[in-house]
Amino acid sequence: MKRLSIFVSGNGTNLQRIAEYFSNNKDVEIVNVVCNNPKAYSIERAKKLGIPLRMITKQDFNSEAFVKEMQSLGIDLIVLAGFLWKLPENLVKAFPKKIVNIHPALLPKYGGKGFYGEHVHEAVVAAKEAQSGITVHYVNELYDSGEIILQARVSLDENETPDSLAAKIHQLEQAYFPVAIEQVLFSNALSGRNP
Ligand code: GRF
Repeated sequence: MKRLSIFVSGNGTNLQRIAEYFSNNKDVEIVNVVCNNPKAYSIERAKKLGIPLRMITKQDFNSEAFVKEMQSLGIDLIVLAGFLWKLPENLVKAFPKKIVNIHPALLPKYGGKGFYGEHVHEAVVAAKEAQSGITVHYVNELYDSGEIILQARVSLDENETPDSLAAKIHQLEQAYFPVAIEQVLFSNALSGRNP
């Protein structure tokens, strides 16, 4: 059994998709949803999905107790699904290669501080890029710079807008994020970790 924790800050469409994707898989359990935003629609989704919800404050999040709590839950993989806080170093160190993030662009371009949500798509359209896409990557102590697990691409049209690009990226996320998570979970098992 692989135990997932999903961290969210916003709408939670990725959370929803991941939960549905694994709903018939007896080898994967979503142990909790960790949320830092009391206004996030993800909260409703977690409740409807019947997944335990853990709301956090910044103080909780930066404490050693939170790391211990996650460890005591036996989490195999932390999935950042639209989670907007930088992770504290102690959490990253406690879960080496066990935290993944999705970024709505082709890293290393359009990553780092300030590149989140619509800001990413605005920058990509303004630069008249021919392509954008998604990047699923491991998380290290820096923003958006861990090892890349998967990228998927879309072409920009001549009259592309940040909104139309966001819709394309959304489709890629829905198609590929759960698949990338599954790969990470079960390739670790093959290499003998957490059998
Ligand atoms: C996604 O575009 C993801 O790439 C980014 O934040 C957004 C989250 O959307 N990191 P949602 O909350 O899953 O709907």
